[in-house]
Amino acid sequence: MFKIVLIVLTSLLCCSTVRAQQPYYLQQCPRDEQYINECLRDSGNKLVHFLRQGIPELEIYEIEPVDIDEIGIALGSGPDGYRALFRNIQAFGVSNMTVTNVRSDLESLQFQMTCEIPRIKVRAQYRSSGVLILVKASGAGEYWGEYEGVKAKIYFKAQPHEGQDGRTYLTTEMVKMDFNVKDIQMGVDNIANGNAVIQAALNLFINSNAQELLKEMKPALRTKLTLVIRNFMDRIFTKIPLDQWINLN
Ligand SMILES: *[C@@H]1O[C@H](CO)[C@@H](O)[C@H](O)[C@H]1NC(C)=O
Repeated sequence: MFKIVLIVLTSLLCCSTVRAQQPYYLQQCPRDEQYINECLRDSGNKLVHFLRQGIPELEIYEIEPVDIDEIGIALGSGPDGYRALFRNIQAFGVSNMTVTNVRSDLESLQFQMTCEIPRIKVRAQYRSSGVLILVKASGAGEYWGEYEGVKAKIYFKAQPHEGQDGRTYLTTEMVKMDFNVKDIQMGVDNIANGNAVIQAALNLFINSNAQELLKEMKPALRTKLTLVIRNFMDRIFTKIPLDQWINLN
């Protein structure tokens, strides 16, 4: 009898230890207000570091590139207003991000993260109609962009809930983001039926107005990126219980 009790006890002890074990891709942060933000920043960077090669335990195998289905922009109104649609957008380089700052409020589970990404390369298919400046800019081809010095701010509020294993997990309740880019180079290639003069004129226009064009694209980009970030965070949050992020004791 005593033996059985002992076995039951040891197996309980064993398994609660296994359950509480900290995964290699994350460091647990103390609740201490003085350290939590720096700790979460470092923990975030540790997670990003391992995500870069994939983390099978989280069922994340590859995070490059970031895919966005499509983004449309419109400049000017009327029949000749310029419209462009970018599809099958692929962004490379996001996994090279560094978390530079975290602000947190554990009571209300609100967080703000600042991230820096040295360089993002974008490829997309592109179709446009209308007139840009004096150039008739209708056509389709390939868009490329190189965004240097990308800085993003992500704000989110989370909701706690109990998982099937009895531990507390988070889901995002609200996500907002904004970003800016220090230097942009972009252009279009291989415009179908396009002549070289039009393509050159377009590229000259695009490059000398890159920041303004980005500004026009920003609302649509922000909406899409917010969705991408939210989906990604929820994917991670369903796998990592709150007590692996923060010591709740
Ligand atoms: C990440 O940065 C390294 C070093 O600058 C670079 O070699 C690599 O191509 C970058 N990764 C992506 C996906 O852009």
